[in-house]
Amino acid sequence: MTDLIENTRVLLASRPHGEPTADNFRFETTPAPTPGEGEVLLRTIYLSLDPYMRGRMSEAESYAAPVELGAVMEGGTVAEVVESQDDSLAPGDIVLAHLGWQQYGVQPARHVRRIDPARAPVSTAVGVLGMPGFAAYAGLLEIGRPQPGETVVVAAAAGPVGSAVGQIARIKGARAVGIAGGAEKTAYLREIGFDAALDHRSPTFEDDLRAAVPDGIDVYFENVGGHVWDAVLPLLNVHARVPLCGVVAHYNDTELPPGPDRSALLPRTILTKSLTIRGFIQAEFVKTHYKTFQQEASGWVADGTLQYREDVVAGLENAPEAFSGLLTGKNFGKLLVQVGDDPTL
Ligand SMILES: NC(=O)c1ccc[n+]([C@@H]2O[C@H](COP(=O)([O-])OP(=O)(O)OC[C@H]3O[C@@H](n4cnc5c(N)ncnc54)[C@H](OP(=O)(O)O)[C@@H]3O)[C@@H](O)[C@H]2O)c1
Repeated sequence: MTDLIENTRVLLASRPHGEPTADNFRFETTPAPTPGEGEVLLRTIYLSLDPYMRGRMSEAESYAAPVELGAVMEGGTVAEVVESQDDSLAPGDIVLAHLGWQQYGVQPARHVRRIDPARAPVSTAVGVLGMPGFAAYAGLLEIGRPQPGETVVVAAAAGPVGSAVGQIARIKGARAVGIAGGAEKTAYLREIGFDAALDHRSPTFEDDLRAAVPDGIDVYFENVGGHVWDAVLPLLNVHARVPLCGVVAHYNDTELPPGPDRSALLPRTILTKSLTIRGFIQAEFVKTHYKTFQQEASGWVADGTLQYREDVVAGLENAPEAFSGLLTGKNFGKLLVQVGDDPTL
């Protein structure tokens, strides 16, 4: 049966220099693979596009191996079981899988996780109730440790990580200040309960930020780096905590930014303000925090305390362009590619 199914997939054709372009990807169509004992054939419904994929396109040393040239681009997916050679899953089940940028794929059944469509829309399994939501939850609570009345600042605040950080900070009784690109995104942040929202593209951004944090910054959840970090650093309070989750402003960098070398400023500031700056990859917290996250975040989503927004692009053929846009702020909310029909809608 499966040899009749055609599978379109997106391969890494070349490594980008700077911003990824269409030339870095190649489309091909092959027969869908056949599942063996203990495996399932899956059909992709949603492909999650995430900033970490830029790192996988590059050969630079990182916490995970790069995608090989000619291999399918990596990525988290929400998928439907088409054929099962394992008792634990049946056709029609919806699962979280790591199929990558393709319409079909085979996975061992033990590597996928069943999604309950009654809990929340299934797309949230790669968004607010998935990896980005978890990075926000674990990084903020374990490293940021916001206390009632403290000020938490987060950038890329309209994205899945940032929007969850701000809302969870408020759940914990802190004041949430969000930084995002443009008036539409900052208006959205106010709508979902951020105490203040600032546009990092505004010429008055530095002054706006200073005015928005009259008591300084106790927790800065770092998602971007660049000029936002420069504006935040002088406003950090003594004993401030900085969960360093990502530096998306630098993922396309090919060389150091121009200007004077200010690298000595950072250790001096860390010392004089007794700062805690701690990088993390969410996977390190899975064993200790994932279960609690699922319970708490599902409850918050269900009762409306944790709101989310999705930016759904139709068609796998549009994935490369949508991905480039993610690195420059063209997305508004969790970026997903709808690769196939969602039977739960
Ligand atoms: N450590 C981990 O385990 C982990 C896990 C998940 C994600 N992350 C990181 O978390 C961050 C957010 O991820 P996400 O999935 O929620 O992405 P996202 O916010 O949906 O997308 C990235 C956003 O970054 C902003 N941005 C891009 N260039 C910028 C610049 N030069 N200055 C300021 N903002 C800029 C853009 O928003 P604006 O339009 O608002 O500028 C863009 O929409 C990324 O750095 C990602 O790598 C880390």
